Amino acid sequence: MKKIFIANWKMQLAPTEAEKLAQSFVHTFKDTKNEVVVCPDFLSLAAVSKIFKSSDLSLGAQDASAFERGAYTGEVSAFDLSSLGVKYVIIGHSERRTCMEESDKLISGKIKAVSAEKLIPVLCVGENATERKQGKAASVIRGQLKGAFKSLPAKNLRSVVIAYEPIWAIGTGVNCDPLIATRMKTIIKDWCERAGLKKTAILYGGSVKTDNATSFLGKAGYDGLLIGGASLYVDSFKNIVNAKSK
Ligand code: 13P
Repeated sequence: MKKIFIANWKMQLAPTEAEKLAQSFVHTFKDTKNEVVVCPDFLSLAAVSKIFKSSDLSLGAQDASAFERGAYTGEVSAFDLSSLGVKYVIIGHSERRTCMEESDKLISGKIKAVSAEKLIPVLCVGENATERKQGKAASVIRGQLKGAFKSLPAKNLRSVVIAYEPIWAIGTGVNCDPLIATRMKTIIKDWCERAGLKKTAILYGGSVKTDNATSFLGKAGYDGLLIGGASLYVDSFKNIVNAKSK
């Protein structure tokens, strides 16, 4: 199976910067054997979509509305994302759960909306430092999975990506011990199998760098990586994508 590498550019780039970086990604990832996905912010999506046309890269979005196209000020519909050529949509990133107070109910609605447009949801799950210290990491993750897929019959979901992103490792430079990452991957995989979710790819995210990428792709058995900071530089992202599994 192809490994999936998702660049989450968050709200870090002006449109001109995003276009420039997208152009260098097209050049760098020509003929890539992996699934390389870039998620610019909404403002840059149309321009990056044009740049990626007939390239080997896939386009992703960082969020989508839970509502169908209509009178919802400030929202962006899954339908319109789909018409721009978007393939993946990040849903329930911890920054949205925390800063925008997104609930499980809203996240579940977003998964439903993007799946209806045949886009692939990339559901982010992860515990914070206190929850880990209190030994609650596994129950937090199971709770987030249950909340996200509660009202969605597994048969309606063609394909789903889950990203394990421990909050304490996001943007902190703190390396998640591969043993912890392995344990969490097993918990997620077991939960998905019990829920009847087939074809689920499980990614790791949180301070991924060139020198730790292999530990998540190798023994820990992740199907790919979700990368923030290191995806803003074409060389560091390229080194991560080219990292061998150990
Ligand atoms: P960093 O790679 O900057 O830690 O961000 C991870 C992340 O949040 C990707 O969605």
